[in-house]
Amino acid sequence: MTYSFDKDTHRRGTNSYKWDITAESDVLPMWVADMDFETAPCITEALRRRVDHGIFGYTLVPETYYEAVISWFGRRHGWSINREWILYTSGVVPALSCAIKALSMPGERVLVQTPVYNCFFSSIRNQGCEVVESPLIRQGDSYSIDFDDFESKCSDEKTTLFLLCNPHNPACRVWTKEELTRMNDICQRHHVRVISDEIHCELTMPGHTYTPFAAASQACLNNSVTLNSPSKSFNTAGLQIANIICNDAETRRRIDRAININEVCDVNPFGPIALEAAYNEGEEWLEQLNAYIWGNYTELKRFFAERMPQLEVIRLEGTYLVWVDITALGITSDEATDKLLKEGRVLVNSGTMYGRQAGEGYLRINIACPRARMMQGLERIARVLAR
Ligand SMILES: Cc1ncc(COP(=O)(O)O)c(C=O)c1O
Repeated sequence: MTYSFDKDTHRRGTNSYKWDITAESDVLPMWVADMDFETAPCITEALRRRVDHGIFGYTLVPETYYEAVISWFGRRHGWSINREWILYTSGVVPALSCAIKALSMPGERVLVQTPVYNCFFSSIRNQGCEVVESPLIRQGDSYSIDFDDFESKCSDEKTTLFLLCNPHNPACRVWTKEELTRMNDICQRHHVRVISDEIHCELTMPGHTYTPFAAASQACLNNSVTLNSPSKSFNTAGLQIANIICNDAETRRRIDRAININEVCDVNPFGPIALEAAYNEGEEWLEQLNAYIWGNYTELKRFFAERMPQLEVIRLEGTYLVWVDITALGITSDEATDKLLKEGRVLVNSGTMYGRQAGEGYLRINIACPRARMMQGLERIARVLAR
């Protein structure tokens, strides 16, 4: 079946966080990681059947839910997961918070690779821990890991945890198996556990294959906790369901305790249904979505090369969040974001959200929208920045 991602579904006035955050109706939002595409029809149909029942009391998560997770990761990503390894909760950020609580003590240091997803910083600090940054190194139009710096930060005895973003938001990297195992070797040498946030794992571009951290090697599995959800790739973030996957019973017991302490053990009736439909029936839709996002990225690259050649677009290996180097403009990321909103009526993320130093000089642009709308947004950006 062929799906169309060109449909211009209006979202303003639907209490959309992305669209309704600004009172002004002429602002084009290209910011938060939420797509303007309707989700896969198999998900809408499954939800509609549930809505038609008409009763929305407390819900149980059925065995078929676990079967869907195990089957998906086995057949699509070559990762064999046992039923008892899976704990569910109400989102990847709640999962992150519980995993940090379970695996660290207040005052300890938690390593991140900046620029990185902003909630990593808050989740670490909310647990009373300290953020330690190992900045990624910009090489040409991509990023790599400074392994010497990474090891030196891991070797600090107060560093006990590493939060990995795989694939990486906003650096657009899909880490290779070699990079993952090398990171884990260093972590294990210094007794650092790994929490791998893999929410973007289905969003990979041609030539790049996602390797689950825990599937990279037995050592990686033993030293890690994986966080996952179909919510980013199937545009169901508002349905709030995520999984925490860990093979160690004692770690799971502690995470389960944290899930209870944080009161994020209950999910709504729609989340598990959406997840089952996505993993059991959504693969073809997802393939076409990724092809469409790649088409958008190709158009964006062409547009920047023609109209704003002084700005560098980072290579997109994964996610739908494009990272653009604007240092040539001679203004800060926050200034550029402000100008774009005030003068261009387009909302993008300032790079500084992802690390004050590592993100300075960059903008993050969400391209998960119909191509025609993306082009309108790019026109607005060029009108302000290409002057
Ligand atoms: C790396 C990463 N983790 C987690 C989230 C949010 O997860 P959730 O909405 O399930 O809490 C995002 C959203 O952009 C993200 O980029």
